[in-house]
Amino acid sequence: TSKDYSEALHDHHDTFHRFPLHMVHGIPLMEPIVQQWGPIEDFQARPDDLLIATYPKAGTTWMQEIVDLILVRGDVEKAHRAPTHIRMPFLEICPTPPMPSGVQQLVDVPSPRVIKTHLPFQLVPKSFWENRCKVIYVARNAKDNVVSYYFFDQMNKTQPEPGPWELYLRKFMEEKLAWGSWYDHVCRYWDERTNHNILYVFYEDMKEDPAREIRRVMDFLEVELPPEVLEKIVWQTSFQVMKENPMANYSSVPSTILDQDVSPFMRKGEVGNWKNYFTVAQSEVFDAHYQRRMEGSSLHFRTQI
Ligand code: A3P
Repeated sequence: TSKDYSEALHDHHDTFHRFPLHMVHGIPLMEPIVQQWGPIEDFQARPDDLLIATYPKAGTTWMQEIVDLILVRGDVEKAHRAPTHIRMPFLEICPTPPMPSGVQQLVDVPSPRVIKTHLPFQLVPKSFWENRCKVIYVARNAKDNVVSYYFFDQMNKTQPEPGPWELYLRKFMEEKLAWGSWYDHVCRYWDERTNHNILYVFYEDMKEDPAREIRRVMDFLEVELPPEVLEKIVWQTSFQVMKENPMANYSSVPSTILDQDVSPFMRKGEVGNWKNYFTVAQSEVFDAHYQRRMEGSSLHFRTQI
């Protein structure tokens, strides 16, 4: 029930409880999401809702900040009105008590709402597709994505214990981490992008030319802004500025839930950071598996930038 999650958050304040994963339609999800599954599945999207969908650690928070700044037309004070997870609720889970999930939070959010999800395409509530809602999908190359997730699972005390890197990497390849398969996630949204109102954005492209990618988002949202406002948004959403921004760096979430001493939420923000963690052997095994797993897909990541 909805009580369980907030009670658990309060009760396990000191020795925080890492939630186990349970299967929902074949996807491993954290227990409180499974307990809330009915209301999540039945969520009623409004036609002007904007959904930001990602596999965990692909650059969700970055895109959220970009979208919010576009919608407030570069008014930084307005964008600083509240932390990310309050401004743009996380549909299937709320990182702080007492709300169990974004579903309850979203009742009080005025339209147009911006909603975050990590749900794979097939688990997104049907009402988003029925209402032809706009969806922005951010994808990040698998190797940087899994490294980022590994550090996140160490500092996020609600996620299952990541264990040693070698085993964690294997779990990623076996598609057993929370929110399931990275491979299916990125490929399915890619394949569906032309059937629905989906803008597909790559983390690597955002790093290469943020202004260009922010302009794509502006076009998608049908918002026109003068060049100096675009420039301001590029600056405000740069890694260094977001790292220092308490409304974007998750420092408002208690350290019993997100322990930033273990690893900061804004950790590195780079392309190619995986090279510091994969051994040569791990990289070779990963690449061979990746080739087989992604064979036939027209989705390609550019990592050499
Ligand atoms: P790293 O762990 O590689 O540093 P999410 O928001 O989906 O949880 O993704 C978090 C990842 O995006 C982290 O990656 C974080 O540092 C990175 N990130 C957040 N804001 C960023 C920005 N403005 N520029 C580049 N990377 C950013």
